[in-house]
Amino acid sequence: MAQQASRRDFLRSVGIAGGAGVMYSAMGALGLAPVPDVRAEEYRAPQRGDFALTGRSGKKVLILGGGIAGLATAYELGKAGYDCRILEAKDRPGGRNWTVRGGTTLTDLDGRTQTASFSKGQYMNAGPARLPQSHVTLEYCRELGVPLEVFTNQNANAYIYHENSAALAGEAIRWRTAKADVYGYVSELLAKATDRGALDKELTADDKERLIAFLRNFGAIKGKADGYAYAGTDRRGYSAEPGAAFEEGTVLGPVPSMADVIASGVGQRFSFELGYDQAMLMFQPVGGMDAIPYALAKAIGQDRITYGAKALEVNDLQDGAEVTYEDAQGRTRTQRADFVVAAVPPMIMARLRHNLGADITAALKYAVPTPVGKIGLEYRSRWWETDEHIYGGITPTDMDLATIWYPSYGYQGRRGTLIGYYNFGANAIAYSDLPHAERLERAVSRGVKIHGDKYRTELDKSFSVAWHRTPHIEAGWVGWPSQTGPEYALLNKPAGHVYFAGDWLSHVIAWQHGAFTSARKVVTDIHERVMAA
Ligand code: ALA
Repeated sequence: MAQQASRRDFLRSVGIAGGAGVMYSAMGALGLAPVPDVRAEEYRAPQRGDFALTGRSGKKVLILGGGIAGLATAYELGKAGYDCRILEAKDRPGGRNWTVRGGTTLTDLDGRTQTASFSKGQYMNAGPARLPQSHVTLEYCRELGVPLEVFTNQNANAYIYHENSAALAGEAIRWRTAKADVYGYVSELLAKATDRGALDKELTADDKERLIAFLRNFGAIKGKADGYAYAGTDRRGYSAEPGAAFEEGTVLGPVPSMADVIASGVGQRFSFELGYDQAMLMFQPVGGMDAIPYALAKAIGQDRITYGAKALEVNDLQDGAEVTYEDAQGRTRTQRADFVVAAVPPMIMARLRHNLGADITAALKYAVPTPVGKIGLEYRSRWWETDEHIYGGITPTDMDLATIWYPSYGYQGRRGTLIGYYNFGANAIAYSDLPHAERLERAVSRGVKIHGDKYRTELDKSFSVAWHRTPHIEAGWVGWPSQTGPEYALLNKPAGHVYFAGDWLSHVIAWQHGAFTSARKVVTDIHERVMAA
């Protein structure tokens, strides 16, 4: 007995000081738990074996929201046998992870209803649509058996379209062409400056030579005798493709002047692909992003998820917490659990009745919702592939549609579905203020400027989502005025037996990675608490 008690005290102190990972290692050393085969700072899922010989067992956990954070919380706690239940207001899992196919319907907060009529096999990922290689989302796809394919985030053959620039306005310029010209002229300038001695303070003679060698390669510029001039290159592309026998091809021309290239602003677009989260390669689940929530829901057990359940009230109790909600039949019900995890958007949580305190409400309201919109356009033909040789990728614009996305699935097929706008803030509001037919007309009237009449004549079906007007979601994502202030810190701690989870409680907001890692944090916190109790 004495030995057992001191062992428990030892584990408790290790657990509090060092977190669950260190505690399990200590338990492993004492022969109480398997030693995890991971670095201590890495996430370790709770396991049934953690409870062996401790007299403890998984507790009951009620989760508000069946988006990625809520699903991941139930999935991870379920690995150790916690009794998790999810209350989800919608009739499907996934939250913003939503794939729209033929038959999908959406009624906005303003009462307008759309029903998608996309053809079989056609879909749009209305929410998340691209997965970076560094994100934990890919690990979940592997664990859950969700097959992946490449998502083309950047394509040399897609365009950059600026209609408000000081030069080259209204010209659709291929990424490859824009890059050749910007890299070329910048290289020319820097080579000239180097050669004239403008950088002699910074560079030795050898360094200068090496820099110029780099610039000649980087920008495809001429040599010293020709003043390091950029005069175009086949990197720009061809107006007549090279081919057999004597067909050399015709390099795309004329090359715009240096001043025009700089004034066009196309060079401002290149940083996109350098973003840590946006860099190629990227991935998507085969058949639609919602393969992830459906796989999670299946792994959790569909019977553990109650759809159509709208939370009304959350109360922390002395030895647990309870949630009152309206079920799909309109009945008011109350469920009790040892812990509640609120995995719903903060501004929605802020409106629920609760006894968690005014500072919690204020912190939840501190998050700023971002309006976000997207439209899917199904075409009868894949003219962007056949006529323009664009197979996936994105055309950024300075128009209110922001970007046009070409599908990274179904290549060479008969039909295809573009994203005709994906925009934020004021642009998203401008579109969402309109009924769908007018959103569509506005998007198409912009798209024809880049792609011509077929952008209108080949169009068959469409569907638009305004996330800020979508019930139970109300934003594309939220931003924090500060993530170092007291509000954010408060919500990253439990309020009694109530925890908060979501991408909004991460530094990877607007990505599923943020939701998964937030869920993992809450799961670890709850499990440590249960193990230390
Ligand atoms: N993660 C979102 C995107 O890639 C914001 O567009």
